[in-house]
Amino acid sequence: MSAGEDRIRWWQSGVIYQVYPRSFQDSDGDGVGDLNGIAARLDHFVALGVDAVWISPIYPSPMADFGYDVADYTGVDPRFGTLADFDALLAKAHGLGLKVILDFVPNHSSDRHPWFAESRSSRSNPKRDWYIWRDAAAGGGPPNNWISDFGGSAWEWDEATGQYYAHAFLKEQPDLNWRNPELRAAMFDAMRFWFDRGVDGFRIDVLWHMIKHADFIDNPVNPDWTLGMADMDRVHQLNSTDQPEVHAVAAEMRALADGYDGDRVLIGEIYLPIVKLMTYYGSDDAPEVLPFNFQLIDAPWDARAIARIIAAYEGALPPGGWPNWVLGNHDRPRIAARVGAAQARVAAMLLLTLRGTPTIYYGDELGLADVAIPPDMIQDPRELREPGKGLNRDPVRTPMPWDGSANAGFTTGAPWLPLNPDWPTRNAAAEADDPDSMFALHRALLALRRAHPALSIGDLALVESDGDVLAYERRHGEERIVVALNLGEREQCISLAEGNCALLLATCSGESRSAGGSAQRQGSGFRRSTVVLAPNQGLILQALPA
Ligand code: NOJ
Ligand code: MG
Repeated sequence: MSAGEDRIRWWQSGVIYQVYPRSFQDSDGDGVGDLNGIAARLDHFVALGVDAVWISPIYPSPMADFGYDVADYTGVDPRFGTLADFDALLAKAHGLGLKVILDFVPNHSSDRHPWFAESRSSRSNPKRDWYIWRDAAAGGGPPNNWISDFGGSAWEWDEATGQYYAHAFLKEQPDLNWRNPELRAAMFDAMRFWFDRGVDGFRIDVLWHMIKHADFIDNPVNPDWTLGMADMDRVHQLNSTDQPEVHAVAAEMRALADGYDGDRVLIGEIYLPIVKLMTYYGSDDAPEVLPFNFQLIDAPWDARAIARIIAAYEGALPPGGWPNWVLGNHDRPRIAARVGAAQARVAAMLLLTLRGTPTIYYGDELGLADVAIPPDMIQDPRELREPGKGLNRDPVRTPMPWDGSANAGFTTGAPWLPLNPDWPTRNAAAEADDPDSMFALHRALLALRRAHPALSIGDLALVESDGDVLAYERRHGEERIVVALNLGEREQCISLAEGNCALLLATCSGESRSAGGSAQRQGSGFRRSTVVLAPNQGLILQALPA
């Protein structure tokens, strides 16, 4: 995973786009997005200028957790299409120069997976140990105090065989036992199945959950838990996650991927503090994965806090460890909902100009916000199990609005979740025609990244700033680019080193000026010293040779 300047891999300079397949494009009128729908919309990725598409799970699934409960690791759910549809999508994407990343869900399968049916059939079944079975505690009840991420005990009693099985999520998602070599081999075979078909990598679901403490000891109780908090927060997941043995599994996955050509990527979904996160890069001898960096998802929208996060994250990266940044995904509130429409533009500039691989969540390029879900349309099992705690993920999974036609062009049927109410104007077609749209801003940012190595692969140094200003310089060879962002609603100033510079891009037009006071237009040059940032303004400035 070392990233010497001599060889930049596609996933380092590239930009990833996450598709939630149920909600991207429906092709058969069932109200649920599918593979042929994605294939029909590949031009969107090309127009936007991203390099790779990560598709959330498409495998056969009873959909208890909308595909994160896999009943067959080497198939395609009929709702999404067929294996032939997938092959066609992959070929078409590759033909357009796009990489395709699948979601791999190794911590748990569906309870309908034939492996689990065998495992639960008897204590002596050869696949019994492919899942995590334990006797009841001495006094009866679950083996320990572990709590499912979706609430309630992480253990489910199986009457027929008189033992409990572990499930970090729903009881319909039994945890696989990665300490069992046969299970490991079967899962590696599944990865090979997709690599052999040509997929360019995997995003690995809850990688840090995969191995549990060998002795299943209790998790420490969280003394700060109060009613209204998610049930899972009653305990700290010290012994149920992030065990040292997980690193050997990740390294084995990496070695498997390295057996293929084309720099296949492995991205680990890992929610851990920075220092622990860094251990998942592995070492030069045993490289592991690119661990998703969710720092900005949890960050308060505050320039000083984000500057600290950038410094801490950059400072903690191991030698050769490549950074990456994420603003949102299918589990977390959308950025436009968190920071508002004006700041969402600043956030886009931040995401696409920080050092490292950015991942864009579908719809964020249109400025989509969270969509209110009427109570009778709630689908997310997490919300249904723990209602009213603000955990609902449906609002961030609503259909992609494509155009002004019926159902925003998403489906000819009834969409599985409601559309954003502003879809008649906030849709891909309308925004493609509007130079001031969020889509146009994303397109411009991605074009700049492509044109300027300083932005895609250059070094990063924070520039001293205060108040609501966040600023950094990107540098590659002789090229120097300064990004100055106003994260607030009031005009701000920032002092930059003397020298001529050109304005490459502004999040809002016509309002930025240098201390001299003249209004600046995109592409115009001025002497930088003190630059004034309008409210919610972000600027990308290129230093010009003296
Ligand atoms: C993380 C996924 O992102 C989430 O959507 C899912 O519910 C859990 N893992 C369980 O697979
Ligand atoms: Mg469909």
